[in-house]
Amino acid sequence: MRNTIFFLGKGGVGKTTLSSALALAMARRGKRVLAASLDPAHNLGDALKVQLNGEPKNVETNLDALEVNLAQWVDRYLEESREQLKRNYSYNATLNLDSFFSILKYSPGTEEYAVLWAIEDIHCRLAPSYDFVVFDTPPTALSLRFLSLPAISGLWVAELTKLRERILKERQSIARLNPASPVAEGCLDKNDDKVYGKLGSIRTRLAALHSLFSKQSFMSVIVNPDELSMFEALRIKDDLARLDIPLSALCLNKQGVSDAAWEIPPELRQLPRFTYSFSRDGIFTRDDLVSIGIEPLMHHILDKRKPER
Ligand SMILES: Nc1ncnc2c1ncn2[C@@H]1O[C@H](COP(=O)(O)OP(=O)(O)O)[C@@H](O)[C@H]1O
Ligand SMILES: [Mg+2]
Repeated sequence: MRNTIFFLGKGGVGKTTLSSALALAMARRGKRVLAASLDPAHNLGDALKVQLNGEPKNVETNLDALEVNLAQWVDRYLEESREQLKRNYSYNATLNLDSFFSILKYSPGTEEYAVLWAIEDIHCRLAPSYDFVVFDTPPTALSLRFLSLPAISGLWVAELTKLRERILKERQSIARLNPASPVAEGCLDKNDDKVYGKLGSIRTRLAALHSLFSKQSFMSVIVNPDELSMFEALRIKDDLARLDIPLSALCLNKQGVSDAAWEIPPELRQLPRFTYSFSRDGIFTRDDLVSIGIEPLMHHILDKRKPER
């Protein structure tokens, strides 16, 4: 079932607008909905006219919303890693963990991991209380990085697991040849090995997140009637295809905003398409959001909510 909805697309195409409109419309249809912003430049609260924080806040009947506090998740992720390493490497006085961690904070990937663990928390802890979770996403580059992390990190962890198995085998050989060796007193069996166990649990978590993105999520890409947003949508489609994450719909937003020539690229034409006119009077209230005409997309998602094989 695809109960998690992501809106992707170039900056300014209408991700926050359409995700809030969909969340509101579903809630007004009686579905329990959580709208969650993953964009560090939060404006979901501005769109829904409610001041939000990192925990669900009621917006109106059936609708709660939150804005993930990314800085807090980065700190939490670093703290967990620090505790873990300290426990595992406490014997190694030469390893300066504090300087290692000040580097890790600014190392590439840290923010993406923080987003990923925030999504995991929403999916595991909060989502069971709702019928749908609608994510408002950050700019494409960051979104593609966190969406690809489970698959890419999964490969890494699989290799590390093999390496750990080899180390344990070597240890067993040494212990057999020389039972008096200190190695014989260490961990020899993978079922008792903490590192092996930890790698297994990371693999399970990453696999669950990849399944969330590829099998349980409705991924919609938004374009405007301009070439640049179409190009970006094509890149998103290609990148997601490489990760086995299918696109579920194309939203053409702000139709009629300009007279410039445009066309939907052939690669995007086979997707179910939903169109929203440019509203010249602007979008100010929650009722303005709902009257953008989100119902066809909502019905499409509700109709698709049958178990998939
Ligand atoms: N269909 C529309 N008609 C009029 N204005 C729109 C429409 N969709 C979005 N906007 C406006 O465009 C701006 C950018 O939209 P937003 O949803 O914040 O984009 P994104 O989240 O993709 O960066 C906002 O001011 C929003 O009110
Ligand atoms: Mg936005």
